[in-house]
Amino acid sequence: AQQVPDILSPEFAADPYPAYRVFRDSAPLLWHEATQSYLVSRYEDVERVFKDKQGQFTTDNYDWQIEPVHGRTILQLSGREHAVRRALVAPAFRGTDLQEKFLPVIERNSRELINGFRHTGSADLVADYATRFPVNVIADMLGLDKGDHARFHRWYTAVIAFLGNLSGDPEVAAAGERTRVEFAEYMLPIIRERRDRPGSDLLSTLCAAEVDGVRMSDEDVKAFCSLLLAAGGETTDKAIAGIFANLLRHPDQLAAVREDRGLIPRAFAETLRYTPPVHMIMRQSAQEVELSGGTIPVGATVTCLIGAANRDDRRYADPDRFDIFREDLTTTTAFSAAADHLAFALGRHFCVGALLAKAEVEIGVGQLLDAMPDVRVAEGFEPAEQGVFTRGPDRLPVRFTPVSG
Ligand code: HEM
Repeated sequence: AQQVPDILSPEFAADPYPAYRVFRDSAPLLWHEATQSYLVSRYEDVERVFKDKQGQFTTDNYDWQIEPVHGRTILQLSGREHAVRRALVAPAFRGTDLQEKFLPVIERNSRELINGFRHTGSADLVADYATRFPVNVIADMLGLDKGDHARFHRWYTAVIAFLGNLSGDPEVAAAGERTRVEFAEYMLPIIRERRDRPGSDLLSTLCAAEVDGVRMSDEDVKAFCSLLLAAGGETTDKAIAGIFANLLRHPDQLAAVREDRGLIPRAFAETLRYTPPVHMIMRQSAQEVELSGGTIPVGATVTCLIGAANRDDRRYADPDRFDIFREDLTTTTAFSAAADHLAFALGRHFCVGALLAKAEVEIGVGQLLDAMPDVRVAEGFEPAEQGVFTRGPDRLPVRFTPVSG
C-alpha cells in the first residue's frame, strides 16, 4: 500500500495537495490518531456529510473545538434552535441591509487601506490589505469605534491561532482563552448600550432581532460577534489573498479579469475551489455511517477535508489546474454567491456570510485593480501557503505604477 502522509507533518503543511490525492485514491476513510478523527477526502463523501439529509451528523464537536474561545455560537446549535438562530442573524447579511447599509462600509474600508499604499508603487497585499480589510469591515459594520480596530485585529490573530492549533500548543490555547475574557469585557457593555440606544449598525440589528418571540441574550450576541471575527475575517482575508496569488501566477487570467471585471466572481469561485481558505471542518456522527472506504461508528469525529474534496478528479476535470473559465464550476446555486465547490460548506450550516464575502471580494478586488492597473509580482515573490486547518499565502509583495485618483 502507498505510504499515507500525516496531516500534522511539515511536508503536509508545505503542500497538502499530493497527500490529498493519496487519501482520495487509497484511503478515502482514514483514522487519524493524533486528532482522534476520521479523515474524509472524496467530494461525494464530504458533500454527503455537509448536506446530512438523514440527520446522521451533529456539530457537538464544536463544544471542545470553538466553545473555549467563542462561547456557544450558532455553529454548535442544531434542530429548531439552530433554525431560529439562523432566522435571527441571516437577514442582516443579505437584501437591503447588505445593499444599503453595508456596501458603503465595504467600499470605505477598502479605499482607506488602499490609500495607505497606492502612491508608493509597492505593497504586500497580505499584510497591507487582506489581513486588515474583512476584520475592519466587521468592526465597522458592528458600529465599533475606529480606535478599537487595532485591538480587534489583535483578538482576531489570537482567535485564528487558537482555532488552527491542531497540535495543542498550550501557550496558543491560553492566549485564545484570554481573548474570550477580554472580548467579553469589551463587548458586553457595548451590547447593553445598544439595547438602550439602538443605531442602524449590525450590533443594534442583532440585539433587536426577534423570531417567534425569541431574542438573543447578551451572551448569544457576544458569542456571535466573536465568531464573526474568525468566520467572517480570516476566511475572506485568505480568499482575497488567494485570488491575487492565483492570478499573479497565471498572468493571462489576471489580464482577462483586469479587462472584464465581470470575471471577478469566477476568479473568486475558482479560488475557493482550488485554494479554499478553510481546509478542515469537523462533525460528529450521531449514528453508524457508511462512507467510501468503510463505516464510522456512533460518536466519532469526522474531519471533512474540503481542500481534498475540491480537487477530486471524480468531480472536476484536471482538478490541479487553476482555470477561472472551467466549465464544471458554476456560480448559480441557492445563494447565488455559492458555487458548487465545498468552500462555504453545504446544508444547515452553509456560510451565512457568503453574499457579504462575495460583495467584499468584488468591491475589494475591483478597487485594487483600479489602483494597481499594471500590478505584477515584486522581487522575492514566493508566497508560501501557510496553515493546515485554514490556509492562505503568507505574503504577496507586488509592484505597480501609481495612478492618481
Ligand atoms: C459558516 C466558510 C465568509 C459567517 C461557514 C462554514 C464555512 C464557511 C466552511 C461552515 C462551517 C461549518 O459547517 O462548520 C467561509 C468562507 C468565507 C466566509 C470560505 C469567505 C470566502 C464569511 C463571512 C461571514 C461568515 C464574511 C460574516 C458574516 C459565517 C457564519 C457561519 C459560517 C456565522 C455559521 C453558520 C451556521 O452555523 O449556520 N463559513 N465563510 N462567513 N460563516 Fe462563513
